[in-house]
Amino acid sequence: MIQQDNHSPTPALPGFKLGKFTINPPIALAPMAGITDLPFRRICRRFGIGLTVTEMIASRAVEQGRERTERMAELDKNESPVSIQIAGSDSKFVVDAALWAVDHGADFVDINMGCPVKKVCKQVAGSAMLRDEALVARVIDAVVKAVDIPVTLKIRTGWDDTSKNVENIAKIAEDNGIQMLTVHGRTRAQMFNGKASWEDIGCAKSVVSIPVIGNGDIIDGPSALEMIRQSNCDGVMVGRAVQGNPWMLAQVHAAIMGLPQPNKPKAEEVWAIVHEHMLHLADFHGEKRASKLVRKHVPWYSKGWHGSTGFRSAFQSVNTWQQQIEVAQAYFLSVDHQAEVLDIAV
Ligand SMILES: Cc1cc2nc3c(=O)[nH]c(=O)nc-3n(C[C@H](O)[C@H](O)[C@H](O)COP(=O)(O)O)c2cc1C
Repeated sequence: MIQQDNHSPTPALPGFKLGKFTINPPIALAPMAGITDLPFRRICRRFGIGLTVTEMIASRAVEQGRERTERMAELDKNESPVSIQIAGSDSKFVVDAALWAVDHGADFVDINMGCPVKKVCKQVAGSAMLRDEALVARVIDAVVKAVDIPVTLKIRTGWDDTSKNVENIAKIAEDNGIQMLTVHGRTRAQMFNGKASWEDIGCAKSVVSIPVIGNGDIIDGPSALEMIRQSNCDGVMVGRAVQGNPWMLAQVHAAIMGLPQPNKPKAEEVWAIVHEHMLHLADFHGEKRASKLVRKHVPWYSKGWHGSTGFRSAFQSVNTWQQQIEVAQAYFLSVDHQAEVLDIAV
């Protein structure tokens, strides 16, 4: 832990080196397919995070060269440090995808060995790879040898309760040149159910000397601090709790840096962010696609607010982009809602 003078707060975590970068604050936005596109990462970045990661990009999709895949790897000029996350189990394709990620400006290549989705696991990719430790070593080794930027890995704690192998995988990762490991404290069998085991994250941390990022079930500053206490992790990664609630990243930041908790956002501030998010989506994806994407994102912002059920159905029933803006603006700016903002944390 950093020793500071009497007037400075003491951070719970000091940050760490990753290649030529320092990850400080050691807070990452979790990769979430269909959610953490460039517009959402742009919104989140300002709330005090030290690392963003793209959505998972399948190495086979890279091979096919689709425009949509290219868009997924688009980074902002000032978005750094940032990882491009790739997935796959055939070393040749994964290496090609890693080189492609480097070409697209990634500071780090993150390999996904945590995805629980059936379609992915059927191809022995994502979390299914955890069942084949030799395969894990082979793929990591091939990627590390192929690229000249740090390679990182994101895993779950194992396939199921009876075959947890988070320590083995952590050691294999370090031995084969992985420079940072993120552990989502669930097995594949858990999918997103039950509780993430922060102790299991600690098991990985205890057997390696590379930085370990803890992930799973952080919902606010205190839960981030509790994960750090239980696992001794070097950084934290936050996913679902950020959906419609990017301000919670500022709470996590303040807790980790030993700073006072930030004020809850006022209605106008919430609307400013919702509006900006909508505009970024339209700018990046075009209005037609953005119009579909906001049906997912914008209702999340109303979670915990008075009248959110009525707002959600009103919002889903309008069809044009202009109407979507108007309905959202009318809801988020209505004075009656201000008092309810206090409930916004998920
Ligand atoms: C909709 C959704 C999409 C996800 N997509 C990815 C992904 O592309 N790559 C990845 O490594 N993890 C993915 N995850 C897992 C998250 O990164 C994270 O590990 C998980 O949600 C647990 O963290 P949380 O409790 O903070 O949400 C996804 C999770 C969700 C809910």
